[in-house]
Amino acid sequence: MSVYWSKTAPVKHSWSGEGRRSSEIQCLERIPLMKQMEHRVPLINSLELQLRFLSPQDIDQVKILCRSWFPIDYPDTWYQEITSNPRFYSLAATLQGRMIGLVVAETKELGHLAKEDRSILATCFKKGTKVGYILSLGVCEDFRKQGIASLLLENLISHLTSDTAYNSVKALYLHVLTTNSQAIAFYEHRGFVVHSFLPYYYAIKGKRKDGFTYVLYLNGGHPTWGALDYVKSCALLLCQLSPIRALTFLGRKLRLLWTGTVPKLRRVAESSSALFS
Ligand SMILES: CC(C)(COP(=O)(O)OP(=O)(O)OC[C@H]1O[C@@H](n2cnc3c(N)ncnc32)[C@H](O)[C@@H]1OP(=O)(O)O)[C@@H](O)C(=O)NCCC(=O)NCCS
Repeated sequence: MSVYWSKTAPVKHSWSGEGRRSSEIQCLERIPLMKQMEHRVPLINSLELQLRFLSPQDIDQVKILCRSWFPIDYPDTWYQEITSNPRFYSLAATLQGRMIGLVVAETKELGHLAKEDRSILATCFKKGTKVGYILSLGVCEDFRKQGIASLLLENLISHLTSDTAYNSVKALYLHVLTTNSQAIAFYEHRGFVVHSFLPYYYAIKGKRKDGFTYVLYLNGGHPTWGALDYVKSCALLLCQLSPIRALTFLGRKLRLLWTGTVPKLRRVAESSSALFS
């Protein structure tokens, strides 16, 4: 069974590599077809654009893409894992079967996170609470700023929020180089907030580079609250209990009481007058 689906189809993917099938493996030469399509439909609306899970046959193509996007050398085992292990949510965007973008994520338990990341959720969340981690998100340069990364991220988030099995995932987080302003703007514009600064987090070509942890809270997840958060929450509660809403609520209750009690009183009066007559 292949797991191709259109970007507009409801998100119904199982987080599993079961039955994955590779499309033809193509190198990343520029795609002339894009030139023809440029003046017709926006890429995001193109029927040629599809999403599918990665399969082991994609390894070579994924390696080329990741090496062109990230200054980090991942070991071969990493590529094998993300393309074959069903614990990874590895989704590719393809255009006429050619891979033009991908997102790789996994879920972990809060207690298993690195020490510096464990505080993304408030202390009231148990160690077994699930969190999502984005290992990789990238789009080929020629296809950037056309909504492909947004589409991949939206699919991942809908998966984590609409599938009941994943409703327990309280946060989605990632690490990013402090110098990667394009990615930082992308995540910030999609509701991710910076959680921590990670000095010398990355080792790139023998040099240490700083990183950030960014988090998006999902399914009721939240960080440890400060005084300001408590004030905000009280203000929200007060807004919900606005005088108009309170009066309407009271009016509805009184009306119910009135319509319920008057017939009862009338019946009591009628029965007592029958008794004394
Ligand atoms: C970060 C990255 C993934 C973004 O990919 P992308 O496909 O360009 O992302 P999108 O097109 O969805 O969004 C980018 C911007 O283009 C805009 N955009 C989308 N469609 C557009 C269109 N048709 N016309 C003009 N702008 C458009 C988006 O609104 C967005 O701007 P915003 O953040 O102000 O809302 C990409 O730059 C990349 O691959 N970088 C290298 C790898 C990397 O650093 N990854 C992140 C670390 S994990």
